[in-house]
Amino acid sequence: MQVVIASSPVLKEAAEALVVGVVADEPLAGPAAEVDRASGGLLGRLIQRGEVSTKLGDVAPLWEVPGVAAQTVFAVGLGNKVHAQAAFRAAAAAARFLAARKRESAAFFLGKSWSEACTESGVAGALVGSQGQDLYRAEKNRHPIPHMIWSGDSAAIGRGQVLGEAINLTRRLVNEPPHSMYPVSFAELATEVAHACDLEIEVWDEARLEQERCGSLLAVARGSAQPPRLVMLRYHGGPDNQPPLALVGKGVTFDSGGLSLKPSDSMATMKCDMAGAATVLGAMQAIAQLRLPLNAIGLMGLVENMPGGRAMKLGDVLTARSGKTIEVLNTDAEGRLVLADLLDVAVEQGAARIVDLATLTGACVVALGLDVAGLMSNDSSWCQAVSTAAAACGEDVWQLPMFEDYGKQIRSEVADIKNVGEGRWGGAITAAKFLEEFVQGKPWVHMDIAGPAFLEKPKPWQDAGASGAYVRTLVEVARNFGSR
Ligand code: BES
Ligand code: MN
Ligand code: ZN
Repeated sequence: MQVVIASSPVLKEAAEALVVGVVADEPLAGPAAEVDRASGGLLGRLIQRGEVSTKLGDVAPLWEVPGVAAQTVFAVGLGNKVHAQAAFRAAAAAARFLAARKRESAAFFLGKSWSEACTESGVAGALVGSQGQDLYRAEKNRHPIPHMIWSGDSAAIGRGQVLGEAINLTRRLVNEPPHSMYPVSFAELATEVAHACDLEIEVWDEARLEQERCGSLLAVARGSAQPPRLVMLRYHGGPDNQPPLALVGKGVTFDSGGLSLKPSDSMATMKCDMAGAATVLGAMQAIAQLRLPLNAIGLMGLVENMPGGRAMKLGDVLTARSGKTIEVLNTDAEGRLVLADLLDVAVEQGAARIVDLATLTGACVVALGLDVAGLMSNDSSWCQAVSTAAAACGEDVWQLPMFEDYGKQIRSEVADIKNVGEGRWGGAITAAKFLEEFVQGKPWVHMDIAGPAFLEKPKPWQDAGASGAYVRTLVEVARNFGSR
């Protein structure tokens, strides 16, 4: 897929499809106004009659518009206000509509004098919207448009393409079925990405994980025939002595629950349980391609959680890398066991600040719904920085409290801590309290992405399946980190 800057004015752009944006307050402005004028007021009349809607993400085709070089014009609604989120969703909805069949080229003239942030989001959205989850369908549902033309700032268009490709990388990894995406194959793919964009990479196999005393992560892997891996990516874009930003991701390539086996219905989509790691990989790729001025490390803990004969058992006591002992009372609370050792590595690597992402708890989905990630943190200003970054790119997050009393729920009579709280209530928070035990007071934000990582139903702007959510937030966090 190729994205280029428009070289002709909107009416002369001879693409197969031309997309113009219409804003509710003033639908006939910018490119839309030009199309309207050239066609003798056609677009205005269609809007008046309600055939063309200005509602965010609504798409209407206008065939063979006189005075326009493109074969077909599409009007996409931008809603009331154009901000990064609206730009992403409108462009994605239009691209998704267009990609329903094969097309050679499409030109996007969504608005006049858009901010760079909107252009960037729009381009990213167009790439995401035109890509589906049909990896194994002979007859594809989406046909990514090979040649996209965008009007706007050319550097912003380039950045948008980097972001869109990173999001689609994350989505593809998550959408791959668990028979093809398992710890070893994920690590191989991460190695390819690292080589392609000049990231340093270290892969820890089982022997190394033993050597490094990653007893908590290894215990999760024991029930599976698939050996675990830990992947560490290093990006060096800042001063030599600058302590890095650490991005840490849960990479459970399939979560059966282990001996605390999940019911079939809850297990059906558990290939998505490596979304945290896939988001970290996507973000690291984008950070490297954008050459952001910071040092960053990406840590991915890759395991499969299965109930095999050697599986960890309820009542087992594990010794985590940090030396803390953990009583296992539910083998389905495996993500925190993986993260415990990853966070310890992040601290040891000298991370200045940490963000972890994990499809960690159903409780977080109960609390916040399917579309919002839960933020939990030990540092209010770092948490604020992450939520500001999320807001800037139009991704929704909400902070949950970390009251000390919730930490009491994970005390154990047998070991230092146990891996589940007392009962289900507040489960997102008790999970975060568990993680907090492993960050040694370093500024840390935990993002529970169990809801938004994977869509059971499509959105107007995105096919169902992996969403690639929060890749942009991580990149924005890295941008702000670099310019401190
Ligand atoms: N991977 C699941 C959480 C999950 C749920 C992700 C729904 C995506 C969608 C996690 O490992 C898990 O099983 N959590 C348990 C924790 C419980 C046993 C304390 C849960 O949420 O039920
Ligand atoms: Mn689980
Ligand atoms: Zn899990």
